Amino acid sequence: MIKKAIFPVGGLGTRFLPATKAMPKEMLPVVDKPLIQYAVEEAAAAGIEEFIFVTGRNKTAIEDHFDHSFELEAALKAKGKSDALSLVKAMMRGPGAVQYVRQQQAAGLGHAVWCARHLVGDDPVAVLLADDLILGQSCVREMIEAYDGGNMVAVMDVPRDQTGAYGIITPGGDDGHVVDVRGLVEKPRPDKAPSTIGVVGRYIITPEVFTTLDSQERGAGGEIQLTDALAKQIGSTPFKGLRFSGERFDCGSKIGFLQANIAFGLADGALESDLRDWITKRLP
Ligand code: UTP
Repeated sequence: MIKKAIFPVGGLGTRFLPATKAMPKEMLPVVDKPLIQYAVEEAAAAGIEEFIFVTGRNKTAIEDHFDHSFELEAALKAKGKSDALSLVKAMMRGPGAVQYVRQQQAAGLGHAVWCARHLVGDDPVAVLLADDLILGQSCVREMIEAYDGGNMVAVMDVPRDQTGAYGIITPGGDDGHVVDVRGLVEKPRPDKAPSTIGVVGRYIITPEVFTTLDSQERGAGGEIQLTDALAKQIGSTPFKGLRFSGERFDCGSKIGFLQANIAFGLADGALESDLRDWITKRLP
């Protein structure tokens, strides 16, 4: 039933300036692959067939990344670099499978998702934030497997002193895998947080969320927040949190991005040994 996914990539990425002045944050590579490609592969592994990107100014590199580069392909072919050629061809989605809509101003994640409303239709849709990178099983696949209607978010336990960086849920019934979401608040102070269960950037939302977002109400940081729209539906729409099995890296922050590069490097058979040796020598 869930065949479409939205990838909001319209943010300014100010925490990564100057790297993101002319280049999208979602094109930052972890080892050898841009963040956005990991997200697209995670969605494809979950059976997603239509990929909707919400882009903005300075984001054309993302469109180019998912298109043919005939000059590059011809050069690789002429040089007999067949492995590299297969690599760049394998990451292409089929004709018409990728759609782009432009967010005219970075007014928040809720606004970005709302910009995709005309491309979604009547079925629930997945939303993936590429800067939340997950090592391990496809998080979206785990969510779709556990999904039985309504809205769903991926959740994880976070340190109490970091609640201000997350949407935090008020949990209801919790079987250790799926948690009932009774409340949701964006970026609460640690002393005001209803729990330490935080939302990470994977969602399944019903089309009614777009109607709620029509009001364009601004929340935390003066932005139109997706979590506020989800919170408004509590009581009228079932809402679940899914504890996923993988390890999540916040690649929107410098420390998370560095950790991701090390973790993905150590998980790469070709790099693991040299990287481990270097780290061991480097650390006192
Ligand atoms: P962030 O909250 O990390 O914001 O967005 P940001 O602007 O990208 O980065 P900083 O905080 O300035 O460093 C989370 C995700 O939501 C998208 C971003 O592109 C990112 O994938 N987003 C955010 C939008 O598409 N539009 C927005 O208006 C805001």
